Amino acid sequence: MRRRIAEPYKIKAVEPLSMLSYQEREEALKSAGYNTFLLDSKDVYIDLLTDSGTSAMSDKQWGSLMVGDEAYAGSKSWYRLEEAVREVYGYKYVLPTHQGRGAENILSQLKVKPGDYVPGNMYFTTTRAHQEMNGGTFVDVIIDEAHDPQIEVDFKGNVDLNKLKSLIEEVGAHNIPYVCLAVTVNMAGGQPVSMKNMKDVYELCQHHGIDVMYDATRCVENAYFIKERESGYSEKSIKIILKEMFSYSDGCTMSGKKDALVNIGGFLAMNDEDLYTRSRELVVVYEGMPTYGGMAGRDMEAMAQGIYESVDDHYIEHRIHQVRYLGDQLQEAGVPMVRPIGGHAIFLDAKAFLSHLDQLEFPAQSLAAALYLDSGVRAMERGIVSAGRNKDTGEHNQPKLEMIRLTIPRRVYTNNHMDVVADSVIALYEKREKIKGLQMDYEPPTLRFFNARFSPKEVSLIHN
Ligand code: F0G
Repeated sequence: MRRRIAEPYKIKAVEPLSMLSYQEREEALKSAGYNTFLLDSKDVYIDLLTDSGTSAMSDKQWGSLMVGDEAYAGSKSWYRLEEAVREVYGYKYVLPTHQGRGAENILSQLKVKPGDYVPGNMYFTTTRAHQEMNGGTFVDVIIDEAHDPQIEVDFKGNVDLNKLKSLIEEVGAHNIPYVCLAVTVNMAGGQPVSMKNMKDVYELCQHHGIDVMYDATRCVENAYFIKERESGYSEKSIKIILKEMFSYSDGCTMSGKKDALVNIGGFLAMNDEDLYTRSRELVVVYEGMPTYGGMAGRDMEAMAQGIYESVDDHYIEHRIHQVRYLGDQLQEAGVPMVRPIGGHAIFLDAKAFLSHLDQLEFPAQSLAAALYLDSGVRAMERGIVSAGRNKDTGEHNQPKLEMIRLTIPRRVYTNNHMDVVADSVIALYEKREKIKGLQMDYEPPTLRFFNARFSPKEVSLIHN
């Protein structure tokens, strides 16, 4: 018999959820312009917009807030955070930043110059933006399978070494400041990178004198997939696996808002002393003193504690299994989604789900709106709205992947909440042809997905 995995914690403080009626949700959705980004949190029942900064802290983390040292310089809390990063991640030098993009800014400013190429296993929006703002060109070197939502591959986040080798041959190693390796890959569906691939990438880069910098945002989740899927790791602890992962890199940027189990914070870490010295100077300009970097002392205390908790084997086992618990129910009901199920979210394939809609009727936006209307569950559109318009032609970019992301916050919801989400998605899938398309009534010029407003093309979004 398959044994179930329950939450490895019990609940000490509860935060009541708002449970609006269908009519109230209809009103809220209308005033939010059918855009889930514009919904007020007070109107949301189960919030799966993001796993970023939405984690629940432990009693130890809440307790640690009281011992936060708010000194402007040389805070004790900073030294505790530095020690936690050194111990768990293994890098020599650490600098605090207010969140992940703060670290990306400093790294890109120091390493990327106009004309450079920055290879990566797919991209994340802010990471690529910083590379481009410094004159670099991002080059996607992820394996082809990552772009196909249906192909089942254990390590769909892997780098295609041949793509990387060709790029090095084509542009020369001196024009590649570093390889940016994300573990796991958010935009591919939270897909992991294998230990072997990390090692191969590092060896190839060392041979050419190119640095490897990880985007370590969801590194603990990646470590769990290695334990589960790669031979030789099933008996190893997450802590040991993580240390080995980082040994195949020269440094990392980190958004503490995800795997470090805090609501704000991040860091930049590296082994090279010269890069550290230069980064320290920029931390002062953009973030604050190198002993707080945009965080309060109590934030640093909470992150230090969160880092230790994140490598607890029971915590991460439940985390990955909770996402899978939701995904498996949807899969069994035939709901189209990105396979295999990744670490932090379920990505529903809105194009296949609402196959009667044209992409210009915003299927993912419509599905996210319909889900909210049906049950108060908030998801995020990742499709044609997020993709924006072509700079030259002014036409909508029509991405291959038209998805909604059901992102699971860490330690926040129980498996009962996952059941509620599954019931709602499945109910919508069963009456999918009744879900109608949207039209865009207001389109902001930049990052339109945040503020765009829509309305149903027909009388109502769902024809009941
Ligand atoms: N890298 C990855 C892979 C991310 O997913 C994010 C943030 C960042 C970097 C930037 O970190 O937000 O601390 O500045 N992802 C969030 C999300 C916003 O919803 O996926 P940040």
